[in-house]
Amino acid sequence: MIFTIFGATGDLTTKKLIPALYVLFSDDQLPSHFIVNLIGRQPFENDLFIEHIKGQIEGDFPEWDAFKTHLKYIKMDFTDEEAYGDFQSYMKSINVNSAQERIYYLATAPRFFPIIAKVLVENNLVVRSNMRDKIIFEKPFGENLETAKSYNHLLLGLIEESQIYRIDHYLGKEMLQNVLMVRFANKIFESIWNHHNIEHITIYAFETETVKQRGGYYDRSGALRDMVQNHLFQTLALVAMDQPNGLNDRLIKDEKVKVLENLEFSSPMIYGQYDGYLSEKGIPSDSKTETFVALKMSVNTQRWANTPFYLVTGKKMNSKRAAIVITFKNSNFFFESGQPEKNTLTIEIAPREGIALTFNGKAPGLQSYVMPMKMDYCHLCNVMGNTPEAYEKLILDVIHDDASLFTRWDEIESSWKVIDQLEQLKKYERLHIYKDESEIIERLKSEWGQFLTYL
Ligand SMILES: NC(=O)c1ccc[n+]([C@@H]2O[C@H](COP(=O)([O-])OP(=O)(O)OC[C@H]3O[C@@H](n4cnc5c(N)ncnc54)[C@H](OP(=O)(O)O)[C@@H]3O)[C@@H](O)[C@H]2O)c1
Repeated sequence: MIFTIFGATGDLTTKKLIPALYVLFSDDQLPSHFIVNLIGRQPFENDLFIEHIKGQIEGDFPEWDAFKTHLKYIKMDFTDEEAYGDFQSYMKSINVNSAQERIYYLATAPRFFPIIAKVLVENNLVVRSNMRDKIIFEKPFGENLETAKSYNHLLLGLIEESQIYRIDHYLGKEMLQNVLMVRFANKIFESIWNHHNIEHITIYAFETETVKQRGGYYDRSGALRDMVQNHLFQTLALVAMDQPNGLNDRLIKDEKVKVLENLEFSSPMIYGQYDGYLSEKGIPSDSKTETFVALKMSVNTQRWANTPFYLVTGKKMNSKRAAIVITFKNSNFFFESGQPEKNTLTIEIAPREGIALTFNGKAPGLQSYVMPMKMDYCHLCNVMGNTPEAYEKLILDVIHDDASLFTRWDEIESSWKVIDQLEQLKKYERLHIYKDESEIIERLKSEWGQFLTYL
């Protein structure tokens, strides 16, 4: 296998892709003969670059010396079409077996997708219909509906859909994969999974990080395009979809698309930018890019009627955390000695992976007081070793030609349609500058109400 990463000096390659490949290597999941080409434009010498990468990743890597012999840094400007001639000769020199798997990972901003894919095909580095040649495209796929459509059109003129892997690593996360299992394998949940019983659903993903060195990329994107269009909409689709006729990839995606095509939003939307953003490297001093967004959505299907779906994401928050919180309606039964609380089902995505259900019961003692109780399942506590990281799972899926956890074009198209509308309306919304998490969350609660206690 020849695995080539475009964007070798980027954050994604260092923090996620190299560690994922290392784990697959140490678990004997990679073919015995493999090379990882790392393409970047900076003038690194091979050994120095590999040491540089090692210096930036956290954790123990006891088999690093064996692993690093498979890594090769290639200095190349990937927008320079001429440069691919040398790359092609190099690939021929290492491609001893014509049945060899050639996987290209475009860990770059989306605007580079068309040029890289085009030149790879022109140089026979990817051959149409050769299912051993595959290209992985990082999220977001496009910057808006128009660019996403044009990239997709161009790609389908070059290669087959089955050679295209549009990655959204959220779908590789254990608890996202668990959503359908929890919903459809349990009568107790699926039978009440509708607007008759559910009051509202919140999906949130908070990061502590600022944009750091990624200002140039982030300022063109913002939270809507960087997080909502992909991670949050994909999560919402899994939570809100109807039961498919079977658990096969196509049927599941068909149901997800129905959700995405029926998304509606309502005001107020809350946009924020962390204080200090304008001083970050690569950010224009008058930038209005949002680093926080909170949306109230609804899914216009029979199942959901007017149930609100709150989507919230932000940078520079107090802690990194992501979860889905399903809040059920009030019980109709009233007790003299206390009011039952609303049941909640929380699917924790990060940092802890788990599921918690709150319910009401009798407090211990002679009196008949109602008391909130909690059943808590910790996913990590019950497995031997570590659960796989999303990127490990997804890279392995590409090697095994399994596209079920990758996004299909129509999912992306319907997501961009909604985001484009939101981008238009954003201009009329106030941008709140927040010093810290508490400031922006207080703002959110003052607009939407104090009920979002779990945020
Ligand atoms: N960072 C994450 O954890 C993460 C997670 C999920 C998805 N993503 C997505 O992954 C993509 C890349 O993210 P990132 O954080 O890795 O971005 P990044 O840190 O800005 O990296 C982009 C890479 O592209 C390289 N590059 C740009 N133009 C080039 C050229 N003409 N020739 C060769 N190399 C060139 C940059 O090289 P230089 O160093 O020379 O500028 C850098 O290595 C984005 O679309 C992002 O949304 C990132």
